Amino acid sequence: MEKIVSLCKRRGFVFQSSEIYGGLNGCWDYGPLGVELRRNLKDFWWRRMVRERDDIVGLDGSILMNRQVWVASGHESTFSDPMVDCRNCKSRLRADQLPEKNGQKQCPVCGSFDLTEPRAFNLMFKTFVGATEDDSSIAYLRPETAQAIFVQFRNVLEVSRKKLPFGIAQIGKAFRNEINPRNFIFRSREFEMMELEYFCFPHQGLELLEYWLKERLRFFNDIGLSSDKLHVHSIPAEERAHYSQGTYDIEFEFPFGIQELEGIAYRTDFDLSQHQKFSGKPLDYFDEETKSHLIPHVVEPSVGVDRAMLALLCAAYDEETVTDEKGKSETRTVLRLHPRMAPIKCGVFPLLKNNEELVKKAKEVVEMLRGEMSVFYDETGAIGRRYRRQDEAGTPFGITVDFDTIGENGPANRDTVTVRYRDSMEQKRLAIADIPAFLREQIT
Ligand code: GAP
Repeated sequence: MEKIVSLCKRRGFVFQSSEIYGGLNGCWDYGPLGVELRRNLKDFWWRRMVRERDDIVGLDGSILMNRQVWVASGHESTFSDPMVDCRNCKSRLRADQLPEKNGQKQCPVCGSFDLTEPRAFNLMFKTFVGATEDDSSIAYLRPETAQAIFVQFRNVLEVSRKKLPFGIAQIGKAFRNEINPRNFIFRSREFEMMELEYFCFPHQGLELLEYWLKERLRFFNDIGLSSDKLHVHSIPAEERAHYSQGTYDIEFEFPFGIQELEGIAYRTDFDLSQHQKFSGKPLDYFDEETKSHLIPHVVEPSVGVDRAMLALLCAAYDEETVTDEKGKSETRTVLRLHPRMAPIKCGVFPLLKNNEELVKKAKEVVEMLRGEMSVFYDETGAIGRRYRRQDEAGTPFGITVDFDTIGENGPANRDTVTVRYRDSMEQKRLAIADIPAFLREQIT
């Protein structure tokens, strides 16, 4: 993890939030490469879940919502972790994560056994809307995006005219005042979620739970997480929420252990029923075939952008020993990100920076590709160094404009370039005109 955290900072994937003021625990900023990686991840999720399907539409709900939403959903009364305080060092700790010694819970910070009784600590961030700060103006920063989907169910149904089963998808920020934010961006206080609420008839729920498990595993494979690093954990009935008839966690082998990456829950009709009850507004569905009204059931695949990004970085990070042409060995750090996810798709390098013709040609290649993908132009340093810099950034292809390109070694290779593969370091020659199609095929 230390190596990944250090690479993330060094190359501009992730910075500590408000770093120059000492940071803010559980909050992170995403730098130039991080922001591109997240965008690729979110775009691909949206493409898979919404654009490529007829049965799912999108929503972008507000972060602040009427307080009653959280009363109805149960978050105001039950969205909490058990917490204890250490009377010795004053640390606030998650009661369910404490180490034990001789059967007694111990403070992991100072080793004291002098701990308070567990108390429920609500994870929602509270704020006030408007000028007065009293009970009537309390609002929460949403701890999940899902509730906006439930409360807008009728509006979306009416405008989209979808028939069951159909889904509503959303990507957006969520906030949880986690007691122990930890493991870098794995558990943060501010993070982003990608959630789908897939509404269905009651008899379809369990079958759709299996369907979405398979779909989501396929998604993770398609962004470069191999099946051997993914595990499916079926949550036993006694650990599930009382309304859930089935829940799977898709887990990933992070360097700090096998941990939840995504949850897929069959939540029955709990959410819509609650909001119908609390709001007094109908949230039912009229089935044309049976001419009857029902509250749809829902299957919910829900994943954090930040957590999926961390899984991608962990899976991609590699170090290998390579030997250069002079026989010197060195360690090559390479991020083997799937080309679809890679922040920069291709580096473009003129072999020499002080040759006008090489530079001009390389800049033409950049301009040709720029409209379609993120490209990085680099003319400084030895070509081997430039390749290494892109290896670390996860750039899957390097294009070098050399003397063959400008016809100095005869007409045969004029207007061709060297394409170098990041993973194998193999090189091949391609006509410049064929480069866009070649790259398109790899990155879409
Ligand atoms: N609406 C369902 C829901 O909120 P959850 O299991 O609490 O379910 C879903 O969260 C996903 O959101 C998790 O599997 C994880 O990927 C991500 N997530 C949850 N809490 C997080 C946190 N504090 N930091 C980063 N990601 C988090």
